[in-house]
Amino acid sequence: MGGVGFAVSGRRGDDPTQYPGKLTWYVVMTLMAAAMGGLIFGYDIGISGGVTSMAPFLEKFFPSVYHNQMDDTSTNQYCKFDSQILTLFTSSLYLAALVASFFASTMTKKFGRRKSMMFGGLIFLVGAIINAAAVHISMLIIGRVLLGIGVGFANQSVPLYLSEMSPYNYRGTFNVCFQLMITIGILVANLFNYFFAKIEGGWGWRLSLGLAGVPAIIIIISSFFLSDTPNSLVDRGRDEEAKTLLKRIRGVENIDAEFNDILAARNDARLVQNPWQNIFKSRCYRPQLVMSILIPFFQQLTGINVIMFYAPVLFKTIGFGSDASLMSAVITGVINVLATCVSIGFADRWGRRTLFLEGGVQMLIFQIAVAALIGAKFGVTGDVTELPKWFAIVVVICICFYVAGFAWSWGPLGWLYPSEIFSLEIRSAGQSVNVAVNMFFTFLVAQVFLGMLCTMKFGLFIFFAFFVVLMTLFCYFFMPETKNIPIEEMTRVWRDHWFWKRFMNDPNDPVNGAIKMNRIEQV
Ligand code: BGC
Repeated sequence: MGGVGFAVSGRRGDDPTQYPGKLTWYVVMTLMAAAMGGLIFGYDIGISGGVTSMAPFLEKFFPSVYHNQMDDTSTNQYCKFDSQILTLFTSSLYLAALVASFFASTMTKKFGRRKSMMFGGLIFLVGAIINAAAVHISMLIIGRVLLGIGVGFANQSVPLYLSEMSPYNYRGTFNVCFQLMITIGILVANLFNYFFAKIEGGWGWRLSLGLAGVPAIIIIISSFFLSDTPNSLVDRGRDEEAKTLLKRIRGVENIDAEFNDILAARNDARLVQNPWQNIFKSRCYRPQLVMSILIPFFQQLTGINVIMFYAPVLFKTIGFGSDASLMSAVITGVINVLATCVSIGFADRWGRRTLFLEGGVQMLIFQIAVAALIGAKFGVTGDVTELPKWFAIVVVICICFYVAGFAWSWGPLGWLYPSEIFSLEIRSAGQSVNVAVNMFFTFLVAQVFLGMLCTMKFGLFIFFAFFVVLMTLFCYFFMPETKNIPIEEMTRVWRDHWFWKRFMNDPNDPVNGAIKMNRIEQV
């Protein structure tokens, strides 16, 4: 179908199923190294909940919270841990990441994906050092902000890097490795907290916070050895270099079909002077814009971070002791890692939609089960003093099923799907919108969860379940399948979609019109 033009392929390139090439070791190693970027994000998600439950840390930096908790004699379990200052410590990082992701967009586009990763790693390292050495709360906050900037840069650049470097039919597999690293980061952080909390002298929190520097060093070192993506090189006018690289990473000499598609994408991209203005104004980007907002919104409204940030607190609430609570958090962490591996194997085989839909239904069932269990035992007053062991165990099992549902669907695909749907001209800007929305809702959930638990009680789980219903319906009706479609050919999924196609063929849309003319001239 080469040359039939935009109506079929979205580009003027050849049949994507005929892109020759194999999976080379070079590309596997490069992608593994890049996926390390997920570690720094995961470590942060996992570390703060445990650190803020360490008494010496609280006593040093948040004495009023510490004394309130010590003096609290109420039996209302729902409200035991509600403290805005403390949650601000956790959530401030995500606000910094939100702002940084917009700066990262320009850097990723102008200087390449690799430099953004390296920069993110460096800033993160400085943040980790300041946090480990903190003697005053201001050092803690500055450290958190720097960590947030690092996360903003890494999350903006790594998923793009992975999606562009991977052969199109392995894109799901490699991109999910980013999420796998996130989950490993969370688990390692949980384990560290478990052991460091026991260190005599109460300085274990310094180790927990400081060791965040290790994944940062890994990403800095590995980004020295990474090459940039062919798409980014072409976008910056380094065509010959891109061609040589493409031959190397695909392991064949004949890369013309793929290379021509990237060139065509770049030519379209040059017509779009201001990606930021266009992504919001131009109707032909409407489907992509909607996805870049709704996917991270829905990902966070699954309520997953309630478990990731506050699992120990939640488990304490349902009757486990301190040690058992931290251990249960480790168990959900292990399930999170293992279930993500399912997605690595199946995202490219079963497709994104199957996983999204199955994951949604599974999360819904187990959220309702948790709500029913907690509702039955705690009622609306939350006044409980004695809870049977079996009850806590059943709740933990339900939470494990819920986490598994997330871990093979909205977890990895929440990063994969947005990173593969944008056209080159708006890819960097679109990814920033994705990261910013994700960080905003991560911040919000982290900030308001304990308050919501206190007021909404077990209804909180119903609240999140409501969004899971919405997102599953949205996926069913509005999310086209993207597996096995080359990244520079993605516009065709919108052109073929029953709903989105109305935005794609508007002759009055200036961007759409200019790109069409450009393709006709080039065919
Ligand atoms: C989400 C995080 C979440 C993690 C859990 C990621 O995809 O963006 O907010 O904590 O998955 O594994």
